[in-house]
Amino acid sequence: MLKIDDVHFSYDGLYTALRGVSLQIDQGERIAVVGTNGAGKTTLVKHMNGLIRPNSGHVFLNDRDTKKMSVAEMAKTVGLVFQSPDHQLFLETVEKEVVFGLRNLGYSEEEAKRRCDDTLARLGLEGFADRSPFTLSGGERKRVALASVLATEPKILALDEPTIGQDAYQKKMLADLLTEMNSEGCTVIVVTHDIEFVVEYFPRTVAMSGGLIVGDGPTNALLSNSMIIERCSLSAPQTTIAAIALKKNFPQVSDRITSVQELEDTILNLVGGF
Ligand SMILES: Nc1ncnc2c1ncn2[C@@H]1O[C@H](COP(=O)(O)OP(=O)(O)O)[C@@H](O)[C@H]1O
Ligand SMILES: [Mg+2]
Repeated sequence: MLKIDDVHFSYDGLYTALRGVSLQIDQGERIAVVGTNGAGKTTLVKHMNGLIRPNSGHVFLNDRDTKKMSVAEMAKTVGLVFQSPDHQLFLETVEKEVVFGLRNLGYSEEEAKRRCDDTLARLGLEGFADRSPFTLSGGERKRVALASVLATEPKILALDEPTIGQDAYQKKMLADLLTEMNSEGCTVIVVTHDIEFVVEYFPRTVAMSGGLIVGDGPTNALLSNSMIIERCSLSAPQTTIAAIALKKNFPQVSDRITSVQELEDTILNLVGGF
């Protein structure tokens, strides 16, 4: 369980990036964090693995206050994949990059190599082991950064904007992988602007604006709430837009639809159950 308790944080003592954020995430949850640019999403996830420490407030990991835990200790439980792989990749080859974190966690050379091969295959990066991360495309580099974290098999995985630079196929592959990890008990936290990705794969959403959490609940309730959508500068899911358009002629249609299945059921009902 990850518990963020009334966290305040400022980078420079002038502007406050987080102004009292509280959030509890149970083990095995799948949760999306959305919000305006500058809302504090990245600052929040960096608190989850100790890269940033609160000015006031607490971060608890399985009921332990993380104040006295080192980043290395927290990294055994929480894996964080940065928004930009440039902040994460620094070695000459993809394999060295993935093996590096494993070695730091105390895995033997053999085990590290085995985990590296497995993870690269899982991410469609077979044949990339000897490539330099600097010769790869943005999307490939992002997947290498993801591989280096996934290989450590964290209990809690936080990803900052993982779908940027990925095509539809890679996005689906990422979603399948996250779903698989989640079904094995891993908590998955994703910061994203990709609303369709959220609707499809994340049952709970946290909405942030101006360093505060302004909404936290079931994704369908949250993303069909026009006040939240507006306050967080989000675009409503296409399904919700379609439902609202339908409602103009069919008042019985709910304007709280977010999933494709709900929309399909609604349309089938309207046309008489074909
Ligand atoms: N390294 C930094 N130094 C100073 N201010 C920062 C730094 N990183 C982020 N900020 C500020 O903190 C606020 C929250 O940023 P961030 O957490 O990156 O937002 P988000 O990820 O939601 O776009 C923003 O106003 C941003 O300008
Ligand atoms: Mg960010």
